[in-house]
Amino acid sequence: MSEKFLWGSATAAYQCEGAWDEDGKGASIWDEFCHSEANTTKITGDVSCDFYHHYQEDIKMMADCGQNTYRFSISWSRILPKEDHVVNQKGLEFYDKVLDECEKYGIVPNVTLIHYDLPDYIGAKGGWCYDGVSDEFAYYTKVCFEHFGERIPLYTTINEPNHNAYCNYCVGNYPPNEKNNLQDYAHCVYNMMVCNAKAIREFRKFNFKNAKIGYVHGCAPATALSDEPAYKEAVKKLDFFCNDPFTEPAIWGRYNPELVAEVKKLGIDLSFVKQEDLDIMKDNTIDFLGQNIYSRQLAKPYESGGTRFTVNNAGNNDGTKNTARETRAIEGWFETDRDPNTQLNKWGREIYPACAYSTLMLRKEKFGNIPIYITECGHGAYDIADENGYVEDDDRIEFLENYLHYILKAKEDGVNVKGFYVWSTMDLYSWINGYKKRYGLVRVDYDNGLKRIPKKSYYWYKDFISKHKDI
Ligand code: NOJ
Repeated sequence: MSEKFLWGSATAAYQCEGAWDEDGKGASIWDEFCHSEANTTKITGDVSCDFYHHYQEDIKMMADCGQNTYRFSISWSRILPKEDHVVNQKGLEFYDKVLDECEKYGIVPNVTLIHYDLPDYIGAKGGWCYDGVSDEFAYYTKVCFEHFGERIPLYTTINEPNHNAYCNYCVGNYPPNEKNNLQDYAHCVYNMMVCNAKAIREFRKFNFKNAKIGYVHGCAPATALSDEPAYKEAVKKLDFFCNDPFTEPAIWGRYNPELVAEVKKLGIDLSFVKQEDLDIMKDNTIDFLGQNIYSRQLAKPYESGGTRFTVNNAGNNDGTKNTARETRAIEGWFETDRDPNTQLNKWGREIYPACAYSTLMLRKEKFGNIPIYITECGHGAYDIADENGYVEDDDRIEFLENYLHYILKAKEDGVNVKGFYVWSTMDLYSWINGYKKRYGLVRVDYDNGLKRIPKKSYYWYKDFISKHKDI
């Protein structure tokens, strides 16, 4: 793989492919959830922007923009539709065709092996809390390594295990929709990191010379608005919740004993931890970190109100005014803080470009020179199109320009940043926020044959890449 800086954009299988039951694909937990009563929005990814049938057009559009890399994910249940371990050749063929298209334009594939969409047959056994999940994942990833090999030079095991576990078991807005369940959160987090390590163990068996493996982390290191000792303690605890249990085993191959002791004090039963898993983690760490950058993680000392987790899914996707803030609080540990002076997006999330710099510098401070790819960065908005479907998304351009300013500054200051991916390549299904929360560089007209129309930000990115391709 060329050592050029990678400039690209990202998508994920369930969010863009559609074709949810085509060519032998099995159901994932997202298919199951979206088709069930629990999905009160009734919005699904059944068709989405139908990348399954539009991949040629979409990849050509990336190339025309000057992008030299594409981050996408493989749908596990397209490859292994049933629990019998029989490989669906048509599933492999689809991704072969996507890779052919990338090769045609010199686009480097950066491929995530799972992006939230566990096969439903694993969901039925307990999902990420099923202790067999890591062997199942190891088997699935081996099938991928064997088949795709070095055609994929950048593999990532799991997308945002932190956010995924959080939504599954704390907020309850992702399947299996459990709320405030710290016991299952801890179990899920642990199993995910065992999955990560076992997949890496499979990967290493192939002795690839031109392929590397990482995982994608979804949040910034915690920070605070005050230096007082109680705030520092809250920062540490917020990191214990959403950073350290992922980054430390993935990069260092071990857990911090203080973290483990504190988790036990919360009353969490850690009997699921096995020495053999810890040994596998120790020997199987990542080559690079995928870091998604959106906003800060501000901590303050826990005050009151009990353990609770809320998100803002903005009034069931109707595009209105809801600016409610998100809350994370663990009794005795921390609460998330709010800075009254920062701008918020329509979902109550901070727009805070300097967090890109602090995130990268703090990662370097802790983990040294590890290669980092910014695997996602982007702006969710209720885009308004003109009569030709064109979107003048100046807000998105401003967001990306400002975040990139800080990312490039961190690179100049010594962080080993090797690539950047806008979330997202085109408009797609935004999980529980449906289709009105748009992130794409390219608009998808869902009412008009899924027509693709590049937005102003697409042309801005093209220009930006042309000026920065040799950094
Ligand atoms: C993180 C996730 O990886 C992706 O699936 C999601 O749509 C974006 N962030 C935007 O929220």
